[in-house]
Amino acid sequence: MALVPICLISLTILLHFVAAQQTNGSVSVGASLTATPDAKSWLSSSGEFALGFKQVQDNFLLSIWYDKIPEKTIIWYPEVGPTVPAGSKLDLIDRRGLVLSDPQGKEVWSSGSLSDLAYGYMNDTGNFVIVGSNSRSIWESFDHPADTILPTQVMPRGGVINSKMGETNFAGGKFQLRLLQDGNLVLNTRDTFTGTPDAAYYISGSLDESNTTNSGFQLVFDTAGYMYILTGNGERFNLTADSPPSGDYYHRATLDSDGVFTQYHYPKNLNKATNWRVTWFVPENICRSSDSKACGLNNVCILDGNRPNCECPQGFSLLDPNTPNGDCKPYFTPSCDEDESKEGGDLFDFIELTNIDWSGSDFASLNPSNEETCRTSCMNDCFCAVAIYRDNHCWKKQLPLKNGYKDPSYNVKALLKFRKVDDPSGTGKNESRKGEDKSGRKLIFIGSALLGMSVLGFVVLIGVIYVCFFQIEKKKAVNPPSSATVETNLPRFTYQELVKATDGFKVELGKGAFGTVYKGVIGTKIVVVKKLETMVKDGQKEFKTEVNTIAKTHHKNLVQVLGYCDDGEHRLLIYEYMSNSTLAAFLFGDKRPSWKQRSYIVVGVAKGLTYLHEDCSHQIIHCDIKPQNILLDDYYNAKIADFGLAKLLLINQSRTNTDIRGTKGYVAPEWFRNTPVTFKVDVYSFGVLLFEIISCRKSVVFDDDAEDVAVLTDLAWDCYQEGRLDEFVENDLEALDDFEKLTTYMMVGLWCVQENPILRPSMKKVIQMLEGVGEVTEPPCPCPFSVTPSSWSSN
Ligand SMILES: *[C@@H]1O[C@H](CO)[C@@H](O)[C@H](O)[C@H]1NC(C)=O
Ligand SMILES: *[C@@H]1O[C@H](CO)[C@@H](O)[C@H](O)[C@H]1NC(C)=O
Ligand SMILES: *[C@@H]1O[C@H](CO)[C@@H](O)[C@H](O)[C@H]1NC(C)=O
Ligand SMILES: *[C@@H]1O[C@H](CO)[C@@H](O)[C@H](O)[C@H]1NC(C)=O
Ligand SMILES: *[C@@H]1O[C@H](CO)[C@@H](O)[C@H](O)[C@H]1NC(C)=O
Repeated sequence: MALVPICLISLTILLHFVAAQQTNGSVSVGASLTATPDAKSWLSSSGEFALGFKQVQDNFLLSIWYDKIPEKTIIWYPEVGPTVPAGSKLDLIDRRGLVLSDPQGKEVWSSGSLSDLAYGYMNDTGNFVIVGSNSRSIWESFDHPADTILPTQVMPRGGVINSKMGETNFAGGKFQLRLLQDGNLVLNTRDTFTGTPDAAYYISGSLDESNTTNSGFQLVFDTAGYMYILTGNGERFNLTADSPPSGDYYHRATLDSDGVFTQYHYPKNLNKATNWRVTWFVPENICRSSDSKACGLNNVCILDGNRPNCECPQGFSLLDPNTPNGDCKPYFTPSCDEDESKEGGDLFDFIELTNIDWSGSDFASLNPSNEETCRTSCMNDCFCAVAIYRDNHCWKKQLPLKNGYKDPSYNVKALLKFRKVDDPSGTGKNESRKGEDKSGRKLIFIGSALLGMSVLGFVVLIGVIYVCFFQIEKKKAVNPPSSATVETNLPRFTYQELVKATDGFKVELGKGAFGTVYKGVIGTKIVVVKKLETMVKDGQKEFKTEVNTIAKTHHKNLVQVLGYCDDGEHRLLIYEYMSNSTLAAFLFGDKRPSWKQRSYIVVGVAKGLTYLHEDCSHQIIHCDIKPQNILLDDYYNAKIADFGLAKLLLINQSRTNTDIRGTKGYVAPEWFRNTPVTFKVDVYSFGVLLFEIISCRKSVVFDDDAEDVAVLTDLAWDCYQEGRLDEFVENDLEALDDFEKLTTYMMVGLWCVQENPILRPSMKKVIQMLEGVGEVTEPPCPCPFSVTPSSWSSN
């Protein structure tokens, strides 16, 4: 195990630092540091703070950090946060002060010329101080704050701190905290080119207009960990209401790169896994404030805790995939060109989004109005890109859309115009989105991959897992894994890191067949951490093989795996998080989703499965396709979760007998028979899923006594055969209007759920049929070989 040597090395490094800590914090003139991965640093006498080079991706950042905590959180760096290559140097030079130079000797930054320089020291407060020959401090890092202020640090009127640009981009970002000359503490954005501040999105109110001596004078962060604005007459305008004792906790206040100013605390006693906790923050809801510009043009802000998450709405994509809170570009811009505008409704349609509004882009409003009028009015108005409808009121908006905000309490309907010839998803065929997904932007998501399982499903799944593991054992016997190392670029995490990321596995999102899933945060990304519990003994090598396989799967209809942990007996996987929902929640929620969206999802799931079965480097049988395992991103792209866990089954590899007991649900009948298990088990499950998506009904409904089980596939066959599709879709007019597609989907579904796996089409064939490029023949009855009575009880 590679872990042991890593731990030993870490321990050695730690000891090295402990040894190096025999210091009084003093740095003499002529001392220097060189940027290398194991570079020394200048420690404060307690060893709590260090000044030195911190590795940031491939380069190094001159910075001050907390040296005793595992995160080594950075609290200071020079203005504009220049990162420099390995071999760069920091010198403390008489008359020149601190000088940072690149390997060629060129000066990159300096503290400014300082005459009569006696020595420097890294103080235990986190302040680096340069002392002159008169024993007075002549330069302090506290006087040149980056994005963070610490206890004992004071900001005078006119003081400013700037956010950094991004998690690993230390250049000045667009947010500022300033103590204005009038005594108010404000947060504002600024023009990053000119530096000109925009209107404030938070104002402390520490200004007394009637008597300016009572206005704010200094922003103080006291030794006890309390922040307040000291007024001219010596009163306190308190900011921190309550703070844990500074003897036991580190405190810092940082203007984060998302624009939220937050005071944090962190226990000094590191016996238990922990993380920076929020003491207080402003503004209360950064998404609500139109001046915060928390998300760029056309972008939409969603508050997560106190953090803004930005997501381009359906029909838009990020201008710069690496800046998730930047601007979104539309796939379609309304135009008043004659031929387009004339055709109006024939050419365009609307995507419906709920609870999203953009204040400040209206050019017209209709009051009163009904929804139909609102739609028609926007459709016929060549300037109208979006119409917002709520309570008999209609607002028409132009691009670019500003101040996008999504709030469940909004109760508005946003109608986004798109050109019908474009993919209605606004994303479907556009491969440029791929890069975005890869960059791991917006892991905003529903991590609920996470499987609420019925008791029945559970019983069946245990069986499935058993069989899949049985396969593994078998495969292993034939073909022992040659290499136990994971050859993957997938980031590896230690268990401790994940304990920290999930705050001690605090927020459980769900429990599934393969383990329990928790919400976590890594860097600024919200992630889903899945603890694998059901592991076969000696599952270690298999896990490595699997991670290797999963790491190689990249498809827009698969949930992206972001990392893994293989640490002692702990095996975990880290996924992107989807805040939206599972397909189950989408289909079986209060509101019936539109047919257009549903049919788009069908194709997405089919594509994801085809990829697993045929395109990716190791073919994967999912073994557990069901709506709880399909996640939807904000664009209603279907993403399959939990693949690769039920193991890799080789094509046509057969299964011997098991004694699974179960029922028709999503699980193909061959699980219960002594017939081979192949990719066709997923095709069967896909068929069931297809019926669920078509009808918005659950495949299995339990009667009160949980004995009688009604099965959707039976109802599908009955309705199809008797020409009662309207009944099957519960008179869904939109679906019935699209009768040809509806019929095709029904027929494809019936082919997929054939009792005989040989009769079921491959997923590739399924896609061809769904998309109308493959002929769909009349399906036979998907009747069981042995007759099972059915009773459909709708509820
Ligand atoms: C720190 O120790 C060095 C010698 O190790 C000494 O020269 C220096 O004066 C000390 N500085 C302070 C501030 O005590
Ligand atoms: C250095 O730290 C001590 C406490 O450790 C503090 O009293 C003193 O004011 C600090 N000096 C400077 C210049 O920050
Ligand atoms: C302003 O307030 C200070 C102290 O609160 C007081 O001494 C002073 O007289 C006041 N000035 C005016 C003009 O009211
Ligand atoms: C501010 O906080 C301090 C310390 O917690 C407290 O003594 C004081 O009363 C507070 N002032 C106001 C105006 O709330
Ligand atoms: C897809 O994205 C590319 C690059 O961002 C863009 O040029 C193109 O117009 C987009 N295609 C569609 C169909 O929206």
